[in-house]
Amino acid sequence: MNNRSNMVKIAVVGGEGIGPEVTAQSRRVLNWFAAKRGVPMTMREAQYGIIPYLATGKVLPDDTVEAMGEADAILWGATGGPETKEVPAARKAGSLLGLRSKYDLYANLRPIVANPALSDSAPPKAHVLKGVDFVIIRELTSGIYFGEPRGIETLVDGQRRGFNTEQYTTSQIRRVARSAFELARTRRNKVCSVDKANVLETSVVWREEVIALHREEFSDVDLTHLYVDNAAMQIVREPAQFDVMVTGNIFGDILSDCAAMASGSLGMLPSASLGPVDKFGRRKALYEPVHGSAPDIAGKGIANPLGSILSVAMMLRLTLNRPEDADLLEKAVDVALAVGARTADIAEPGAKKLSTMEMGDAVLSALEKVAGRERERA
Ligand code: IPM
Ligand code: MG
Repeated sequence: MNNRSNMVKIAVVGGEGIGPEVTAQSRRVLNWFAAKRGVPMTMREAQYGIIPYLATGKVLPDDTVEAMGEADAILWGATGGPETKEVPAARKAGSLLGLRSKYDLYANLRPIVANPALSDSAPPKAHVLKGVDFVIIRELTSGIYFGEPRGIETLVDGQRRGFNTEQYTTSQIRRVARSAFELARTRRNKVCSVDKANVLETSVVWREEVIALHREEFSDVDLTHLYVDNAAMQIVREPAQFDVMVTGNIFGDILSDCAAMASGSLGMLPSASLGPVDKFGRRKALYEPVHGSAPDIAGKGIANPLGSILSVAMMLRLTLNRPEDADLLEKAVDVALAVGARTADIAEPGAKKLSTMEMGDAVLSALEKVAGRERERA
């Protein structure tokens, strides 16, 4: 039996909108891995958003701050919901951006995998989706999202002027580029760095630093560069050409939504945001589906939990160090989709639409099936 000290601590924060519904299914999946596969973990549930705000006056209550502070991994649902008069300012203080910054979660991994079972409900043509399997690594804690100065001012002629600062330093660029090169070595060994070096000084530095790091330490990896406008076009035209794409904060925000369409639905996409490795070799991480809080369908029990469940697979691989269990979960999702399990967002016209909970059931029963098959083979 594992004692508490080698238990991996997971904070489970469903948040707002559809966040709690989809996260509840991920919790069932985590429980399955704890019970059936002996994955050593403890889960601590905590609240975020409008519900604790109305009860306690805080978007991020102290208990939640503590749970996330002690956690090795945070499983995050979603943020953003109905705005009320008082909430916006408070929400800002406890926002997702604040968390990314607080825990220095600088490397945001967004895998884009096209599932053949979903090609009918995906916007691109089936031949474009063939073989799509790449990861966007988005720098998450600097760039224009955090650069100073920023603000809104009134000019002498009475006009208003909004302004933000795009900026990147050597170390901010190199550490995220390092993540990309290291990941590429475990995959197809290709990195495409995306910038706007024909216009922006920030991007000139970005490109030069990526090239320098590549020359110094990663010359075995195949490195290419694209301007961001061309990258957007290439993602739509031929997404299968990419293996690992690395880019800054705002370009990564935009390109990852664009790339999401190649997977069939935004509801399918997981993500991991990783901090620096500490002196004990640990690396704080936040796992969350890429989709938002979807207030239009919140509370209806129809949201797709697969983005969250696949984020658990990333957690198994990257925090819990259980690559076989991660593979097992991804396989189970494939099996569930292959036998026709569909939530509304990925259903072909006329297909039966499962609820969020029923999709959770489908993944759990596929897990039993796949694990059973593996036992027989062993
Ligand atoms: C994302 C989201 C966030 C971002 C929003 C909710 C602040 O779009 O994670 O991609 O822009 O980073
Ligand atoms: Mg986004």
